[in-house]
Amino acid sequence: MNKTVLAAIIVVIAMLGFTYLAVGSAGGMGGEHDWVNKLAVLGAVVLVIVTAFVVTKYVRQMQYDRASGKLADENWDGIGEYKNELPFGWAVIFLGLTIWAIWYFLAGYPVNAYSQIGEYNEAVAEHDAKFEEQYKNMDESTLKEMGGSIFIVQCAPCHGLQADGIDGKAANLHHRIAEKSVKHVIMNGGNNNILGTGVPMPDRNGLMNANTGALITDAEIDAVAKYVAGGLKGTEGADVFAGTCAACHGPDGKGMEMVAPSIAVFNPTLVANILSHGKKGAIGTMPAFNNLTEVQVKALGAYVTDLSK
Ligand code: HEC
Ligand code: HEC
Repeated sequence: MNKTVLAAIIVVIAMLGFTYLAVGSAGGMGGEHDWVNKLAVLGAVVLVIVTAFVVTKYVRQMQYDRASGKLADENWDGIGEYKNELPFGWAVIFLGLTIWAIWYFLAGYPVNAYSQIGEYNEAVAEHDAKFEEQYKNMDESTLKEMGGSIFIVQCAPCHGLQADGIDGKAANLHHRIAEKSVKHVIMNGGNNNILGTGVPMPDRNGLMNANTGALITDAEIDAVAKYVAGGLKGTEGADVFAGTCAACHGPDGKGMEMVAPSIAVFNPTLVANILSHGKKGAIGTMPAFNNLTEVQVKALGAYVTDLSK
């Protein structure tokens, strides 16, 4: 018998043997009435046999067939090429698949068709819209109340139920900013997109005290950090603030639009910007919250602003 055919028969027997070892005793051929399993095993057997015979056929064809047809004129070191027509069926399949691919991307699945994720997103968007509509015109106290409930769910895990920052793990929101945070910003600059416009705050090498005409000193940094963290009250550090910070943050520290944010108090815009961009600072990193609706952001803004009063 031909060696190739013999090899194919040996492969078939070996694979059937492995199939039997793998599934045979486990149930498929075990005699219970598990038709699905039996069909699957039968399918595997058929696949193995068909594959072996198809492979044998082509291996033998490679061994014995003589090519026929007209050779092209060019040849490369004696290796030539036949001038065969493109089989008609191939051309039809190629064109058909091209058309189908264009249809698939433009009109068919998945760009334009049903998907569970799409349906879920639509349902969420619909309910968000209802929610926005229902709570469009809330008075200040309802807004704060809603902010408080969202805070307990979304923010309390880090900021604490009392919003006091649980042992310094997140900012204490009862005052605008902590002393070490002010120092951190002066030493490192700030680039948290707090204004929402991407304008950064320079670090100490860019902070000139107009009163002394020199760069801000260590002692001045200590003083002004205390002054800002203390709510811009008292006299210590006030002159440094006036000479160095007021130009951008305003004489009262309440900020100037497009120039610098308020560092005296929270306001809803500031909170909204912190929520949409997150914040990295001396205390740690606060993640951005982009899954809140507009009304929820407004409510949190009202709540946090009120806390810090
Ligand atoms: C050139 C303008 C400019 C000057 C001068 C300036 N700041 Fe700022 N400051 C900014 C900007 C802009 C931001 C927002 C940076 C950001 O998005 O992170 C900022 C942010 C801050 C923040 C961080 C607020 C937060 O929530 O993290 C603090 C604190 C601060 N500045 C304090 C000061 C102090 C104190 C001085 C004076 C020593 C000062 N700044 C001088 C522009 C300025
Ligand atoms: C994963 C923990 C975490 C969660 C959740 C979180 N925060 Fe924060 N948040 C922080 C940390 C840490 C900081 C301080 C960043 C820094 O070092 O300045 C911060 C800072 C802030 C600040 C700025 C305080 C300041 O003075 O710079 C505000 C406002 C704030 N968070 C509000 C919220 C609100 C509102 C929520 C709920 C929607 C929330 N945070 C959820 C960790 C968190």
